[in-house]
Amino acid sequence: MGIVGNLSPEQLQSFNSQGFLVIESFSSPEELHAMMNRMDQLLNQFDCSTISVFSTKNQKELTDDHFYESAERVSFFFEEKAFNDDGNLRQSKQLSINKVGHALHEIEPVFKTFSRSEKISSLLFSLGYKRPVLIQSMYIFKQPGIGGEVVPHQDNSFLYTEPSSCTGLWLALEDATITNGCLWAIPGSHKNGLVRRFIRDENGVHFDNPSPSYGHKDFMSIEVKAGSLVVLHGDLIHQSFENQSSKSRHAFSIHAVETDGCEWAQDNWIRRKVDPEPIYSS
Ligand code: FE2
Repeated sequence: MGIVGNLSPEQLQSFNSQGFLVIESFSSPEELHAMMNRMDQLLNQFDCSTISVFSTKNQKELTDDHFYESAERVSFFFEEKAFNDDGNLRQSKQLSINKVGHALHEIEPVFKTFSRSEKISSLLFSLGYKRPVLIQSMYIFKQPGIGGEVVPHQDNSFLYTEPSSCTGLWLALEDATITNGCLWAIPGSHKNGLVRRFIRDENGVHFDNPSPSYGHKDFMSIEVKAGSLVVLHGDLIHQSFENQSSKSRHAFSIHAVETDGCEWAQDNWIRRKVDPEPIYSS
C-alpha cells in the first residue's frame, strides 16, 4: 500500500516553478491510434442535426442545453467557421468539429482506459492529490485551416473548487507545432492566482471579471511530439492560436480536481447528476 508517484524531484520542481511540465513519450503510438480510431468511428456515426458551435469568445453560444448536458455525455461541438452564410457546412463534418466533450473518459472505453490508467493516477498522486476526480475530458481537433483560437485563460476559472485544485492533462495525439496551433503559456503565471471565474446562474454563463490583457512576448510556445503529455497548473495562463496550416492537431485533455478538503463550486457550469468516481491510490 502507499502512494507511488512517478514524477522525479526535478520534474516536480520544474512544474512548481513554470506551472507546466512536458512529459515526452507518455503514450505509445498504439494508445494514440486507439483513441484516434475510436474518435473516427464516433464521428462517422455522428448525426449533424444537433448543432452547437464552440467559442471561448461568444458566451451566448455556450448557454444552450447541449453544452450543459455534455458534462455527462459524449457531445459534438462545431467550429465557428465551419458554416457558410447559408448555414451549410463548408467541408465534411469530419473536418468541421471543434471538439467532443465532456465525458469521453467515463463513457468511451478507450478513453476511460487511458484516463484511469495507472500512469495517470500515479501522476496525480505525485502532484499531491489525495482523492482526485476526473471532472471533464475533451477531444480537441484544431482542424486545418479553420481550427479556432482558444483565448488566454486559466482552467481553474471553469472548474473551480474551494480552494482551487484543477490540473489539466493535455495529451498530444499528433505533433503540435507553432503553425498548427500548439499550446502557449506564460511561465510562472500560476503563482499570481486566479483572475476570474466562469459562473453559471439563472441567466446562463458569464465571467465575473473582464479578461486582463496579456502581452504576446510573455507567452512561450509548447511544441510537442505526438504522445507527449503536457501537465498544466489550474492557474497557469495559457492559450492556443488558430491552426493556419494544412495539418490537424488532435489532442485529448482531461481535467482533475481534488475532492479531499476541496469543495466543488455549485455555480460552476458543470452540475453533475451523478458524482464522478474518485481515483484511489492502490
Ligand atoms: Fe485550458
